[in-house]
Amino acid sequence: MKTNTISTTPYTDQKPGTSGLRKKVTEFQQPNYLENFVQSIFNVATELTGQLLILGGDGRYYNDHAIQIILKIAAANGIQQVMVGENGLLSTPAVSCLIRKYKAAGGIILSASHNPGGPDGDFGIKFNIANGGPAPTSFTDATYEISRSIGEYHIAEADDVALDRQHTCYIGDMQIDVIDSVSDYAELMEQLFDFVKIKSLFKAGLLSMCFDAMHAVTGPYAKVIFEKILSATDGTVINGIPLQDFGGGHPDPNLAHAEELVAKLNAGPGSPGFGAASDGDGDRNMIIGQNFFVNPSDSLAIMAANAHLLPGYKDGIRGVARSLPTSRAVDMVAESLGIDCYETPTGWKYFGNLLDDRRITLCGEESFGSGSDHIREKDGIWAVLFWLNLIAVKEKPVEDITRAHWLRFGRHYYTRHDYEAIDSDVANELIQNLRSLTTSLIGTEHAGYKVKLSDDFSYTDPVDLSVTENQGIRIIFEDESRIVFRLSGTGTEGATLRIYIERYVADPELHDMPTQTALAKLIDVANAISGIKTRCNRDQPDVIT
Ligand code: G1P
Ligand code: ZN
Repeated sequence: MKTNTISTTPYTDQKPGTSGLRKKVTEFQQPNYLENFVQSIFNVATELTGQLLILGGDGRYYNDHAIQIILKIAAANGIQQVMVGENGLLSTPAVSCLIRKYKAAGGIILSASHNPGGPDGDFGIKFNIANGGPAPTSFTDATYEISRSIGEYHIAEADDVALDRQHTCYIGDMQIDVIDSVSDYAELMEQLFDFVKIKSLFKAGLLSMCFDAMHAVTGPYAKVIFEKILSATDGTVINGIPLQDFGGGHPDPNLAHAEELVAKLNAGPGSPGFGAASDGDGDRNMIIGQNFFVNPSDSLAIMAANAHLLPGYKDGIRGVARSLPTSRAVDMVAESLGIDCYETPTGWKYFGNLLDDRRITLCGEESFGSGSDHIREKDGIWAVLFWLNLIAVKEKPVEDITRAHWLRFGRHYYTRHDYEAIDSDVANELIQNLRSLTTSLIGTEHAGYKVKLSDDFSYTDPVDLSVTENQGIRIIFEDESRIVFRLSGTGTEGATLRIYIERYVADPELHDMPTQTALAKLIDVANAISGIKTRCNRDQPDVIT
């Protein structure tokens, strides 16, 4: 094998965000931009030398190109073996599953998750460590440091590898296995859930389902698992063919972007009883019933309350964790189960230590993400199977299961308002202003809500004692209502301000209000305290979930 060492000049903007390095495709297309970052990863992840690496992505534009480059850089950096998904496809949870199953030293996932794709869209690259989870901040910080001063990268001279079929080949001594993207993951799912029971529901025609793969990576997974193994009718999976630009759509499973699915579920008599969708790289999920939406925070709480009914969790759960902005619905369940509930910063990487240390079994985020200790990523298809299994056990539709939960635990009304593409300076000033207000807010009253606590959230990891500061301004009121403000760490244009608003209502008589109505007063309070309208000249959020 001939290896070339290429001189390069560093870029100064390769700082990974909430979930890896995410940039416009056009930025990745700058000379050596991808190569620099990949070499920086290999420079930090010295544990990969002589070991196995898992490689794949969500199929978006630039996926194939990046895979070929990474294979050649991997060979030149002494990687012994790489497993690549057929057609370059691997969902984020599948990569996590493969790393753990085959004891790989790490994995590289090519995805910008739910961000749009195509030549004018976004691309991304993230590294997962040997436990299957996202690399911790210490790793991403080290990569960033190296990328700022990198002077050369190593790359093998070799032909491109055929990705369109399963086979084994070599670049020099490095073995490359192009593998079935789905089978190992499907096998893991079969160990966790009662496939026989779910299958009998579909076979007897007792349940019909629609799964929207949004032309992203879960198409092949959903077709095999739902239609082939579980016998859901052909056509259950819509938008099941992965496309480089996701069909021009925004592969984010929420009520705004999964329009086709929502329309199908709300079409009246004959419409499917259960609906679900996943995002670009398959780690997010949305669960809906007929004319009924399950808020992701509620979904996590419902999972925690019912996990013991499913085979993979029959001995009960050890503990739970949620990110700061996720509603406290799961806290109520943890309290009643007598288990620990951890509050972490935003981003899946903060759950890794808690899972590895066996402190928690389930975890989730308000941003349509939930998962368990089966892997170290959030997992879209897993969440859908969890709900399917629950429906099969309870013999009740999504809405009834959710309402019964509210009746038992009370309801946490919850919304997130996103203001996108704000000028970064303006957004930073807004947050700084809120930070300076926190102490003086305590004890003050706003539209009848008295502030009990206000601070900028800081997290001390109970396992490695690392401290992560400035993770979001929170205002907690005496009745347990909360407002949280933070800036997104995944955007690629200006800043995105996220305002999370939550209100707890125990009285079942009050469980039928439209969410935005139930939260109207608190929304006004959030807008007034932050000064969003005057500071950013915005009247309405761009996205409400
Ligand atoms: C967003 C979500 C966060 C999630 C991340 C990756 O990050 O809010 O919960 O972990 O995407 O999917 P943000 O843009 O808010 O930093
Ligand atoms: Zn994702």
